[in-house]
Amino acid sequence: MNLTTDYLGLKLENPMVIGASPFCDSIETACQLQDAGAGAVVMRSLFEEQIESEIRALAHHVESPAESFAEATSYFPNFSEYQLGPDQYLRQIEGLKRALSIPVIGSLNGARLGGWTDYARRFESAGADAIELNLYQLVSRADVSASEVEADMLEIVHQVSASVRIPVAVKLSPFHTSPASFAKAIEKAGASGVVLFNRFYQPDLDLDELEVLPQLRLSDTSELLLRLRWLAIISPQVRCSLAASGGVHGPGDALKALFAGAHAVQVVSVLLQNGPRFLSVILDGMSRWMSEHGYSSLDQIRGCLNLRHCPDPSAFERANYIRILQTWKVATPHEKA
Ligand SMILES: Cc1cc2nc3c(=O)[nH]c(=O)nc-3n(C[C@H](O)[C@H](O)[C@H](O)COP(=O)(O)O)c2cc1C
Repeated sequence: MNLTTDYLGLKLENPMVIGASPFCDSIETACQLQDAGAGAVVMRSLFEEQIESEIRALAHHVESPAESFAEATSYFPNFSEYQLGPDQYLRQIEGLKRALSIPVIGSLNGARLGGWTDYARRFESAGADAIELNLYQLVSRADVSASEVEADMLEIVHQVSASVRIPVAVKLSPFHTSPASFAKAIEKAGASGVVLFNRFYQPDLDLDELEVLPQLRLSDTSELLLRLRWLAIISPQVRCSLAASGGVHGPGDALKALFAGAHAVQVVSVLLQNGPRFLSVILDGMSRWMSEHGYSSLDQIRGCLNLRHCPDPSAFERANYIRILQTWKVATPHEKA
């Protein structure tokens, strides 16, 4: 079965990519993932806050960045709490590149324009094959408009993409008013790909302690639906690569993402739950489904159910939303009996 795919201009043996996560903190685990069939790996993110605090610390010749900027960073982890500091991160890219034959993608995570974006060049020098730029932000100020936020994001994408020769993918949030238009703008700003979507950390409230409860829940497959819709809508309208991230838990989920228009499919939660070897179960299941249904390569699948090719495009748009709401009936007590 030919599962090869082109993602960000990189030739992958198959579309299954390990999404940004702690998996690549260990070179041994990264090797297990490669053995299980990973097409590429994305490292955990290096955060703007880590880089900026190191830059400030160096400027002030102090020993501990966390101590010197305690008031500014008190809600952030201490410097030592980050798993990989900026220098360690670069060494880890080098180590992964020595150990693996599949592409290694470094992840830079930030929200404001600043010196941290210089790390894109350092990722490239350390040997990264591509950069995933995660522009995660939560705009809580009512005086900051969506267009201002998006303009800054595009400027960051432009700066990072212009500073390196390796491809840059941008991991987007689903909460843009017009995700398709923004994906096109990101492409225009120089990115080679878009990852749909960032999964937001959503705190809960503790009613006993009246506190905010930070928590990270692993995904389930219901989260895939949002990705499928936007892959299907965006894929006919951009030339850049698209990756699905969120809610892929089995071979069927991965195939759906490809039918909707993805070039690559990222997985994290399912492998945290079942271990790295489960990737080979997903890949085997994909190949089996394809041969049972008469497909021999992903080129015959990619985008076949996107907005341009789908037999019923309205299913992705407003018409079907109205139809479904209108046809839903509440069972009467008589019907229930
Ligand atoms: C433990 C954990 C750590 C993660 N760390 C990062 C990260 O450093 N950077 C990032 O962009 N995404 C990170 N993510 C998000 C994943 O890359 C992915 O987008 C998300 O988990 C959805 O995919 P999934 O449904 O396959 O888990 C993390 C997710 C988990 C569960």
